[in-house]
Amino acid sequence: MNFELTANQLDAQKIARDFTERTLAKDILERDAAAEFSRAHFDEMGRMGLIGLPYPVEMGGQGGDYLSYVLSLEEISKLDASMGITYSVCTSLFCGVIMNSDLPTERKAELIRPVASGKALGSFALTEPSAGSDAAGCKTVAVRDGDEWVINGSKCFITNGPLSDYFVVFTLTDPALGTKGMACFMVPKGVPGFEQGKRHDTMGIRSALVCELYFNNCRIPTENLVAEPGKGFALAMKSLDGGRIGVAAQGLGIAEGAFEIARNYLMEREQFGKPLYKQQHLAFRMAELAVEIEQAKYMLYKAALDKQEGRPYTESAAKAKLVCTDAAMHVTTEAVQMLGGNGFMKEYHVERMMRDAKITQIYEGSNEIQKLILSGRLFR
Ligand code: CAA
Repeated sequence: MNFELTANQLDAQKIARDFTERTLAKDILERDAAAEFSRAHFDEMGRMGLIGLPYPVEMGGQGGDYLSYVLSLEEISKLDASMGITYSVCTSLFCGVIMNSDLPTERKAELIRPVASGKALGSFALTEPSAGSDAAGCKTVAVRDGDEWVINGSKCFITNGPLSDYFVVFTLTDPALGTKGMACFMVPKGVPGFEQGKRHDTMGIRSALVCELYFNNCRIPTENLVAEPGKGFALAMKSLDGGRIGVAAQGLGIAEGAFEIARNYLMEREQFGKPLYKQQHLAFRMAELAVEIEQAKYMLYKAALDKQEGRPYTESAAKAKLVCTDAAMHVTTEAVQMLGGNGFMKEYHVERMMRDAKITQIYEGSNEIQKLILSGRLFR
């Protein structure tokens, strides 16, 4: 087993780190306070080739490997988990659905190019008010009418929703068939009957935008079918396996970002006549957190390599998502405590990181759902 990163992987990591320090760091506190997305920063990521990093060049991507993408997402999330999830939803979920579909290669290229080239944003629309953890509880329906499908229903908690140009939307085609009839459509913004609805006001990842979507007799041509009726649910599940690797990278990045702030603080801050790290209980806690982060990192890289090298990755993605996002919540909570009063202040960043960490344990399948997936496989 080789634990060394390749030169290309180290490059991808460095490019993302430099971009984060040079650009995202400038206005992170303001964007969080105003719940504002920076299109300029996203466009720069697009020009740098980050968004389509793991996809073929002829599809608008960079032809990089999956671990390079994961490393760059981890770097960005060390400081800016909002931009991290915007990136992950575009790359892992939106592009992931298209690439995992049975569409011919030319059609895949046509559909992912705008997002993979970083010129447009994409969203993944599965969740509904009645279909969260129970994704099969979906009620949005598409009914065929000649050369078109007519979609009615609504979606909620859609990351990038207010910003996206393209949406992969999962619908039933016959309520009596349930998920056995689920399909997936590509819905571009602005089509009649489709509305990017009310923005959600969130606790964390405040500069990633999230909203509801409404479909009211929205007519979509048959050529926009991404998955035939009956193939939509498995496509959503397979793509979420990839999405979970993205959220794991986001969680790991948050944990590492908070850890680094705490480490610096313990070395600089003096109380009782010595730096805080000389209090052994604090130094030991940091040692434990370092182990937790390292464990999470190897589980994440294992999942990324399983995907990259064509091995099954449902299980390794679920494990990585569980461990990395629990580490994010634990490390950020500890960091706030170690920084004391300062930890509670916005300018020290760890309170934002703690708020951002919470959602990573919830979205793309709550951590309880990861345990459901893993325990189901243990006892089948
Ligand atoms: N890959 C491929 N196919 C899969 C699969 C996978 N990983 N998992 C399940 N399937 C297939 C099964 O093989 C089965 O196929 P057949 O019917 O042909 O046998 C079918 O899907 C149904 O499988 P289950 O019986 O296991 O389905 P279920 O209804 O019991 O649900 C679940 C399973 C794991 C709980 C699922 O509902 C789930 O993942 N829930 C969480 C939903 C979720 O993650 N939502 C995230 C929303 S997106 C988001 O958060 C993004 C964002 O904005 C940041």
